[in-house]
Amino acid sequence: MSTNRQELLEQLLILTDPTKEQVKETGSTVPQNESDNISDETLLSGIPGPTSDMVKDIMSSFEALQSENTSLAEEIINCYNQLNASFETSSSIAKCNSIQQAILMLMSKVGRAIGSQFCIFIKMTDFNFSLTNRHSGKEDETIFYNIDLRSMVSAEEFYDRNKDDLHELAQKRADCVVSMMDYHREMDPDYEGRGNVTSLILKHSDDNSDLGCLFFVRNDEHEPFVASEMNLAKTLIKLGSIVLGNIMYAQKMHQTYLQTITSLVRAMEEKDSYTSGHSNRVAALACKLGEKIGLDEQVEILEWAGLLHDIGKIGIRDEVLCKPGKLTDEEFEHIKTHPVKSYNVLEPIDALQCILGAAKHHHEHFDGSGYPDGLAGEDIPLHARVIQVADVWDAITSSRSYRKAMPLEKAINIMKEESGTTMDPYLVKEFLELLDKGELDEILEE
Ligand SMILES: [Fe+2]
Repeated sequence: MSTNRQELLEQLLILTDPTKEQVKETGSTVPQNESDNISDETLLSGIPGPTSDMVKDIMSSFEALQSENTSLAEEIINCYNQLNASFETSSSIAKCNSIQQAILMLMSKVGRAIGSQFCIFIKMTDFNFSLTNRHSGKEDETIFYNIDLRSMVSAEEFYDRNKDDLHELAQKRADCVVSMMDYHREMDPDYEGRGNVTSLILKHSDDNSDLGCLFFVRNDEHEPFVASEMNLAKTLIKLGSIVLGNIMYAQKMHQTYLQTITSLVRAMEEKDSYTSGHSNRVAALACKLGEKIGLDEQVEILEWAGLLHDIGKIGIRDEVLCKPGKLTDEEFEHIKTHPVKSYNVLEPIDALQCILGAAKHHHEHFDGSGYPDGLAGEDIPLHARVIQVADVWDAITSSRSYRKAMPLEKAINIMKEESGTTMDPYLVKEFLELLDKGELDEILEE
């Protein structure tokens, strides 16, 4: 507190607290306990009295103090709101598992925090990640997010009208730009207003490369964006870019993982040219069947299981695996070990624990006559039963070293005959429905 303000406060205390000092009619003050010993002359000398000017000074000082306190309180509330927005933004984006979802979340949170009516994201053309249009399902270069649905113009309309300007702005790659653009003149020809646009560049947290440009838009019925709002937006976007960097890293790891698995599957299929592509087809057919029976959330597990269910064939002797004629009992027993070999190959991999059941039990039979454990009915893991239907279909419709591919009609008959003995009848029925509706054509034509 300044010395001046301190003095004024002390004087006001003297005026308002008779227990500390006594105010005399003459306008002088005197300590209560010592008043009897002090002469009137002493009382009058040097101490100002409570004149109306003095009261005015004190009151105006109090008003200034009150205004300062109000500003401080507003500043504290602002800081709290900013912290809250930062926390909310980072925790919401952290839950996103795709780049597109994270960018949308960032647009929503930042846009609301700084009071935008809508936001637009333009992807940088030299950065490789995909955005899918929500309506057309096609690859896109932009994402739109409308916050204030009462706004006369939507993000999409604003983009269409200002496309060239927005792209030019994005290409400047300035971190923070405020610009004015046509807002809704076309909606109302007499309207002279223009929109306030803040453009911020979203960067990759790892190498600082530019991912895209985010535009936050307000019309001029509102105040233009101010520095504190833009600083808040920049802070939130930096937080978002760290999460985006993590998502990209995880996707890259996933991609590498998938490529490694694909190489492993190819190595296995190289042993027997007749089974080339078998694992990919089983994976694709199993995913379709999984979606049909409501396993949408587990489609990725079915894909992995389809790709890797026969990986144990790596441990089967070539002369048995590729034998053109009938197998001897010993050879058949040897080939029957491949599901357990698959299990043993995959078991040490933490991320693949979810497919161990499918790998080990894809040759069990619904009536209990299969191998390796002779499980029956629903004791056979569901994923294994799904893989089995896809596996049997692909096996009978593909040429093998020991026989030619069966024609479609014959294959369908075999599926029906094996329904309830080898395979789960419900899954066979669902599979044949997919086949009948042509929903497997794309996979089968490959
Ligand atoms: Fe198999």
